[in-house]
Amino acid sequence: MTTPDSTLSHVFPLGSCVDERGRLEIGGCDAVELAREFGTPAFIVAEDDVRWRARTFVEELGLRHPDFDVLFASKAFPCTAIYRVLAEEGLACDVASGGELALALRGGFDPARIYFHGNAKSVSELHEALDAGVGHIVLDSVHESDRLERIAAELGRRQNVLLRVTPDVAGDTHEAISTGQADSKFGFSVSEARAAIDRLAGVPHLDLVGLHFHIGSQLFELEPFRAAVRTVAALGDFPVYNIGGGLGVAYTAAEQPPAISDYVEAVVGAMHDELGRDKRLLLEPGRALVANSTVTLYTVETVKRNVSTWVAVDGGMSDNLRPMLYGSRYEALIADRPLAAATERCNIAGKHCESGDVIVRDAPLPDPVPGDVLVTPVTGAYGYSMANNYNGVPRPPVIFCRDGNARVVVRRETYADLSRRDVDDLVAGAR
Ligand code: LLP
Repeated sequence: MTTPDSTLSHVFPLGSCVDERGRLEIGGCDAVELAREFGTPAFIVAEDDVRWRARTFVEELGLRHPDFDVLFASKAFPCTAIYRVLAEEGLACDVASGGELALALRGGFDPARIYFHGNAKSVSELHEALDAGVGHIVLDSVHESDRLERIAAELGRRQNVLLRVTPDVAGDTHEAISTGQADSKFGFSVSEARAAIDRLAGVPHLDLVGLHFHIGSQLFELEPFRAAVRTVAALGDFPVYNIGGGLGVAYTAAEQPPAISDYVEAVVGAMHDELGRDKRLLLEPGRALVANSTVTLYTVETVKRNVSTWVAVDGGMSDNLRPMLYGSRYEALIADRPLAAATERCNIAGKHCESGDVIVRDAPLPDPVPGDVLVTPVTGAYGYSMANNYNGVPRPPVIFCRDGNARVVVRRETYADLSRRDVDDLVAGAR
């Protein structure tokens, strides 16, 4: 595997480079050709990048701790082909809804290695989990615990569960993706957790095998993970500890998150210090597995120069909500001249009917013109999963690239897809 060309930002997928014609190449495929063949916008995934990150997590853990599993936090990129790749790489899986469970099963995950999360699981989702034989359900509240005990009793089953604890540790991240603080909609507070652990000891159909926490997402500091391990260690001695996801990634060249090895070193060290070496350790990365694997290709539709330069593309907040929800920064370049010197700073706007639909503000670009293929890297996490049909815009396809071969794993939505759920009688009645 080649490392990114030294002149290309390190945020691009592994193996990305600038070819001899000076054009961007992802997974051995020319980005301009990809846009021509598959249209835009499109999510382009370098398959080897996903596999490499999965292997790195497994290898780094294996070097330091005997009993572990790496769970793909599948909300980051819940597409069958991604589930399939990560199942092939030997990962286990975290799902946060019945829908993600259905996709994980379809993607080939062994139900025994699926962990079912969520702060508002419904009765039918709990039934789906038990019917599928999900290995662990992560209890998030007293109501859910009672509900699951009732269902398991009715079915005459015993179910392994973990208890989600909110350790009152806040990582330095956007408020909307911080989850470890005391006042959270997720999990049991430390004092509630004590009571819940006592209660579960007397419950016949649920086996509490361990604790879970997830303190937040896009975290660059490792100390909050250590603090959270200290907190859960004080809650008793269990065979299993799931310390969630949260490792941050670089969205722009200036960002330097901890390497996977540094993160693993820190969390394993904290586990050994606080809990000893004989526990089963579960990590649950989402973003750190898939974010950097993917770029989005757009076509520039218009360029307007008024107070600023506005470069409008054929996607926007329907394929990437992150700039609008969290103020996230992205890089942008033009596929047929990725290394050309910038001529001006541009606001890259989407095609949606609101002013907030700006994908990148103040992006340096080399004289953008309509027809250019514009590329934003690091769109593999929470792009596809939060995509929507605002303004009736069909969602983009997902294209896997590997060794110069490209294949469509999710096709582009069509206009027919937009009305696929209409009930014909209602439509006829309205005429
Ligand atoms: N485990 C649990 C229980 C989680 O809630 C999450 C993410 C993860 C693992 C994976 O976290 P990661 O490794 O990806 O940081 N839509 C937001 C991110 C929301 C994350 C929600 N939970 C974004 O686009 O930044």
